[in-house]
Amino acid sequence: MPGGASIVAFEARLADLPPRMVQDPLIGEHSSIIKLRALIERVARTDATVLVTGESGTGKELVAAAIHAASPRRNRQFVAVNCAAIPHDLLESEMFGHQRGAFSGAAMARSGLFMTADNGTIFLDEIGEMPLPLQTKLLRVLEDGMVRAVGSDRGTKVEVRVIAASNSDLLAMVARNAFREDLFYRLNVVPITIPPLRERRSDIPILVNYFLNRIGQREPAAGRVTISEEALVQLWSYDWPGNVRELENLVERLVILCEGNRIESVQLPPNIVVTTRVSDDIAANLDGEGLNLNALVRKLEGRLINQALKQTGGNKQAAARLLGLKRTTFAAKLRRCGVISPVDSDESAN
Ligand SMILES: Nc1ncnc2c1ncn2[C@@H]1O[C@H](COP(=O)(O)OP(=O)(O)OP(=O)(O)O)[C@@H](O)[C@H]1O
Ligand SMILES: [Mg+2]
Repeated sequence: MPGGASIVAFEARLADLPPRMVQDPLIGEHSSIIKLRALIERVARTDATVLVTGESGTGKELVAAAIHAASPRRNRQFVAVNCAAIPHDLLESEMFGHQRGAFSGAAMARSGLFMTADNGTIFLDEIGEMPLPLQTKLLRVLEDGMVRAVGSDRGTKVEVRVIAASNSDLLAMVARNAFREDLFYRLNVVPITIPPLRERRSDIPILVNYFLNRIGQREPAAGRVTISEEALVQLWSYDWPGNVRELENLVERLVILCEGNRIESVQLPPNIVVTTRVSDDIAANLDGEGLNLNALVRKLEGRLINQALKQTGGNKQAAARLLGLKRTTFAAKLRRCGVISPVDSDESAN
């Protein structure tokens, strides 16, 4: 049973959510992001349930909000529910509401977030964290469009578009009976997978510039801060386990700590500068020649691939792992860069 004090806290949080009208743009020119934007436009026209997957910080909530903003529901509520942040015993009444006296602490009847999202969109974030009994109830709502408040046996009709997200492998959870298979397929009508930032590195400079501009607009008094090519190359080489969120936070931090008006590579945190040796002389070349992004990417990719191959004694599978690439992507890059490793011809080694 939910506790009284926490209920009060959650009721306060629920007070009249304003409709989400302004949508942050989804930045990026990598082919995966161009395809993603097209897919968003297409699914926004429908009411299909969408399951967004991707590592932490890849932009799952941004994508969900973008679908809502491009949909005919854009002037209604976009309600985000983080299933991991709400205590399990409160989640049901948060989502579906409760009747007066349904449990101790439920002094007044209250409608849930599905009602708030009526005619709009509900975003069920970290859906893998939803307890199994609640998964059963959610499936019922998705099937008959009726929401039943805790303590009530009567349903109320709602018309809500559902977008769910997860950064854990829901199919693996299904395999170990931690997630309902029927719910998985009901949610996964349109699957959207956002690739990690390390698989679309060409977007790093674009995102950095976007974040720098945004900070500049927000705080014009601070003056426009730029970034040196050398620092940019180092950001490029880093693997970004926290993806775009990590990059966004770092850019903010660098701007705050920047003493002049240009972020230099010496200001970067040590964990990012581990690949300096690879990027140093590339960056040095740029001073005179200016920046040719495509050439730089190919050069840097080639060097990282060579270094990874050297480090793994020519084992392509291990080198691919080291670079966070799929074996097939790595093989395609090898062909494109024309990188010849010491044991490159020995396919059987992999
Ligand atoms: N392509 C992008 N363009 C601009 N900003 C982005 C992009 N992708 C992510 N962001 C920003 O990065 C931050 C993290 O994005 P978001 O919260 O959508 O990620 P998430 O996948 O939901 O993360 P988590 O799994 O941790 O919940 C947000 O501030 C978001 O605006
Ligand atoms: Mg999120």
